[in-house]
Amino acid sequence: MKRRENSVGSKRPSLLRRLLDSITGIRRKRDAAMALRPALVEDGIHGDLQAWLDFNRVGAFASRQNLALVAPFPPRRLMHKTTALRDTKDFAAHGHDILKALSRASPTPLSTFADVLDFGVGVGRLARMFKGFRGHYTGIDVDTGNIAWVAKALNYVDAIATKPRQALPFVNNRFDCIISISVFTHMSERDQFFYLTELARVARPGATLLLTVHGERVLQRAETETRIFEMLAVPRHSIVHTRNLLASAGFSFVLQPGGLNSEKYEYGTTFISADYIEREWSRYFDIERICPAAIHDFQDIVVLRAR
Ligand SMILES: C[S@@+](CC[C@H](N)C(=O)[O-])C[C@H]1O[C@@H](n2cnc3c(N)ncnc32)[C@H](O)[C@@H]1O
Repeated sequence: MKRRENSVGSKRPSLLRRLLDSITGIRRKRDAAMALRPALVEDGIHGDLQAWLDFNRVGAFASRQNLALVAPFPPRRLMHKTTALRDTKDFAAHGHDILKALSRASPTPLSTFADVLDFGVGVGRLARMFKGFRGHYTGIDVDTGNIAWVAKALNYVDAIATKPRQALPFVNNRFDCIISISVFTHMSERDQFFYLTELARVARPGATLLLTVHGERVLQRAETETRIFEMLAVPRHSIVHTRNLLASAGFSFVLQPGGLNSEKYEYGTTFISADYIEREWSRYFDIERICPAAIHDFQDIVVLRAR
C-alpha cells in the first residue's frame, strides 16, 4: 500500500522533528555559553562581544570554576541599595543588558576607547563587564561605601570618591569616553548643569558620551504600569505634574527623602524630554542621537560628542 504523502511534500520534516531540532539548537547555544573558553575570558570585551555577554549572564553560573573567571559581585546590601537588585544573576543580567545596549548605541566599539570614565560607577554593574579592558577605566562615585567596594574588588578600575557639587578631580580633555548609567535620572536641574559643564571640561574634543535619562517611555510606563510607578517611588500626583512639565519645560525633578538626599545634595527622580536635550544639552555637546528606551524598554541613552 502507498504511504500517504504529507500535503506540502514528503521532504518537509515533521512537526516533532522540527521541535526536536529547535530544542537541540537551543541546547547547543546554551552549552556554548556555558563552555569554559580561556581566550574568551582573557579577551573580554575585546573579543567576541556576544560570547562575552553570554558567558557573563549564563556561562559564569555553570560552575564555581566559571564564576571565578568573571568579576566579583558586590555584597547583597550594597547591590540592593544602589540598584534595587538582590540577586547576583539579576545583577549579571543587568550588566549584560546595559553593555549590550551601550554597544549598540555607541558609534565606536567600546573596546576601542583608551580612557573611559564611569560617572556614578555604583557597585560596578557595568564596570564588572569591563574585566580585562586594555584601556584605562576610571569609576567615580559620591558614595564612599560603593567606592570602597569597587576599589577592593575590581582591581582594574581606578576607583575615586568624589564630593557632590565639587569639580571632578581630573585635568581638562582627559577622557575619550564617558558613560553614566542612572545618574542624570536623579539630578536636579542645577546639578545637571553643573555636571554637564564638568563632563564637557574633562572630555577630550571628539569624545563620546553615553548618558542615560528617564524620558517619554519611562513616563508612559509609570502612567500605565503599577510596578514601574512603585519602582520610581514618587507620589501619584507628581506623575501627572511631570506629564505637564515634560510638555512645557521638558524637565521634571521630584525630590526624594532618604538615600543620597542631604543638605549638600538634592537627590530625586528626574525626567527629561528629547526636545529639552536638543535645546539645553546642545549648549555643552553635539547631540549625536537619543536612543529611546534603549535599556530594558526603560531609560533612554543620550549619545553626545564633545567639542
Ligand atoms: C542608581 S545608582 C547607578 C549606579 C551604576 N551607574 C549602575 O548603573 O549600577 C546611581 C549612582 O550614582 C552615584 N551618584 C549620584 N550622584 C553622583 C554624583 N554627583 N557624582 C558621582 N556619583 C554620583 C550614586 O552614589 C550611585 O552610586
